[in-house]
Amino acid sequence: MFRKFWAFFAGAAFVAGGTFVALLLLQQEPTVASVKAPPPEFSEETKVCIACHKKTSQSIVQQWGDSKHHRAKVGCYECHQADASDPDAFVHEEKKVGKGKPISIIV
Ligand code: HEC
Ligand code: HEC
Repeated sequence: MFRKFWAFFAGAAFVAGGTFVALLLLQQEPTVASVKAPPPEFSEETKVCIACHKKTSQSIVQQWGDSKHHRAKVGCYECHQADASDPDAFVHEEKKVGKGKPISIIV
């Protein structure tokens, strides 16, 4: 009886310890691809977007950095680029974004 109790106690302690370690691991920073500088493998246009937007809208850049689009090398410009004839096209940061290439919000 006494032995069984200790076996149970040891088992419970083992499970509790394991849970504790698992919780510690879960609390660690998620593996977010933090975008510190424009990644070299993206287009020149996208690098320009990131360079500025990581200052004006960090969270959008970080969300993108943690997305499948980032992993699939789909950059800001690749999604937001527009044709000048698109009804929703607008010129954004004219001097910096591809010498006035238009973009749109809904892509
Ligand atoms: C020199 C700075 C700068 C550059 C370069 C830049 N942006 Fe922006 N962008 C801003 C600011 C400032 C705003 C307005 C505030 C915000 O929404 O962050 C903005 C807004 C936007 C918006 C929302 C517009 C709206 O009316 O709500 C989109 C979409 C956008 N940018 C996409 C891009 C894309 C794509 C690129 C690259 C092709 C780019 N931006 C390059 C500074 C920049
Ligand atoms: C997969 C396509 C895609 C990519 C890649 C992408 N965007 Fe967008 N973005 C969208 C769409 C669609 C919207 C409009 C819907 C929405 O606001 O969620 C949008 C909205 C925005 C807005 C306006 C948000 C608001 O709340 O007004 C900004 C600013 C923006 N994007 C900037 C960027 C920047 C900077 C990058 C690169 C770091 C980027 N986007 C990459 C598709 C994309």
